[in-house]
Amino acid sequence: MKICIVGISGKLGQYMLQYCLERGYDVVGVCRHQSVEKLAAYKGRIKIIPGFTNDREVIKKAVEGCDGVLTVLVPWGVDNYSSGTAKAVLDLTDPATRLVFSCGWHISKDGQDAYSRWFLLLLKVGGRAARMLRLFDINDQVEACRMIFSSERNWTVVRGSDLEEGESEGLPVWSKHVGDFVLRSNHTRRRDFAQFMVHALTDDTLIHEAPAIVSCQSRSASVYSSQSGA
Ligand SMILES: NC(=O)c1ccc[n+]([C@@H]2O[C@H](COP(=O)([O-])OP(=O)(O)OC[C@H]3O[C@@H](n4cnc5c(N)ncnc54)[C@H](OP(=O)(O)O)[C@@H]3O)[C@@H](O)[C@H]2O)c1
Repeated sequence: MKICIVGISGKLGQYMLQYCLERGYDVVGVCRHQSVEKLAAYKGRIKIIPGFTNDREVIKKAVEGCDGVLTVLVPWGVDNYSSGTAKAVLDLTDPATRLVFSCGWHISKDGQDAYSRWFLLLLKVGGRAARMLRLFDINDQVEACRMIFSSERNWTVVRGSDLEEGESEGLPVWSKHVGDFVLRSNHTRRRDFAQFMVHALTDDTLIHEAPAIVSCQSRSASVYSSQSGA
């Protein structure tokens, strides 16, 4: 398999890179020019196309001949970075390509997610402040996902809980809606988020799903599995 990782130089991107190499995949990655150095340890093992992830020429070159594309969706700035990235990936990949995108729990596919008041307040206040400071625009990540959800392409949008560093705890478990009991613990190791993204490439049951994930070793996942006999 040949896999493109869009946003390969970030934390999530580099974990995904490691999982792809472990699986024997050929990897091509997109990252900003100033971040190419972060990938020096992989020189000769991967191909890098430097540039912004919303640059259509860069994406066109990077995804050529790929079986799957893993995209780190980040809403940097206030110039539609996320939606530009998603649109380029949706428009410029072959229709058979498996597409997997990352985002957080705040994204909702069908409006059936149940959020705490605290979460919604943080999102509102944090989102407004970030937009005023021109740091990032959460609404643009929402728009990116709206485009993905309405596409007929073979997509999966993986929705990460709060993230932490550390050793792998195994492939996260997932549920369709934030608010479901199994997700209550709200933490996942970042490397396991990456593991789930790479796993999704070959799990066709995840096509057109927006799985919200949580560590399989979290308390809520353990209680859920003992109660359901899973
Ligand atoms: N952080 C969390 O707690 C959390 C929780 C749930 C879900 N998520 C999701 O996880 C994914 C990545 O999260 P992460 O925290 O692990 O971050 P990350 O892997 O470090 O990814 C950040 C990405 O943003 C790029 N970037 C940074 N500054 C930029 C700028 N000014 N302009 C353009 N690109 C820039 C980075 O590229 P460079 O290497 O070039 O800097 C990197 O590709 C996102 O989809 C996010 O929605 C995060």
